[in-house]
Amino acid sequence: MRNYLIAGNWKMNCGPAETQKLLRGIKNSDISIPERVDALVCPPMISLTVAANELQEEAGVALGAQNVHFEDNGAYTGEVSTQMLNEVYCEYVILGHSERREYFGETDQTVNAKVKKSLSDDLLPVICVGESLKQRKAGEHQLIVRKQVEAALTGVSEDQAAGLVIAYEPIWAIGTGETATPDQAQEMHKMIRDVIANLYGNDRAGGIRILYGGSMKPHNAEELLSQPDVDGGLIGGASLQADSFMEIIQIAG
Ligand code: G3P
Repeated sequence: MRNYLIAGNWKMNCGPAETQKLLRGIKNSDISIPERVDALVCPPMISLTVAANELQEEAGVALGAQNVHFEDNGAYTGEVSTQMLNEVYCEYVILGHSERREYFGETDQTVNAKVKKSLSDDLLPVICVGESLKQRKAGEHQLIVRKQVEAALTGVSEDQAAGLVIAYEPIWAIGTGETATPDQAQEMHKMIRDVIANLYGNDRAGGIRILYGGSMKPHNAEELLSQPDVDGGLIGGASLQADSFMEIIQIAG
């Protein structure tokens, strides 16, 4: 039985001082992280060192980044390498978030290059996929997401895929307060699970965690997390308050 993964994507929030404050709020919460839940926080790059220091003694919360480059080093102004993330004890890295695809030109090809580079350098990708409202209204959501998953995993072996994570994030639910219904989430998560099973077999597909992201809050987390193919959440806004983030973790447990 795989553990739930509850991950916070802090996006462009929480510089170093706020990161320290938020992580102390999480560490000092009255809620303890249940055995069957893994917790993960993904601060902005500039806050990773502070976060690593805060989490050193806190075994229950893993650290992740929100992006990484696929080259080792060089003339890539503003970018960060996998080795740099290793240095600050990142275990995970969010890749292909819809905001990076929309605003920063991320493509299926660059996502795939980053997935392969991350896996080769001991970072577990959290691969974001999801359709726009226009694509859903056109009935294209399954095709779009299937293509994103297959493209992201091109050239990734069954063994390499062991620890990676997929996050289904319908774009129309991100930051809008409009959450996918449990049935909508389950339909897409099951489809993603089937795509992975076609690639790697049922055993591997059963072990890969598929998170839901898109306005998951304490009030709707239980109905989403109770779906058979929802293995956790990738939380934006609700992860910026220690109380609500820990409440979702408690619900998952
Ligand atoms: O990556 C998670 C994020 O896109 C979801 O944001 O604020 O809708 O929980 P939010």
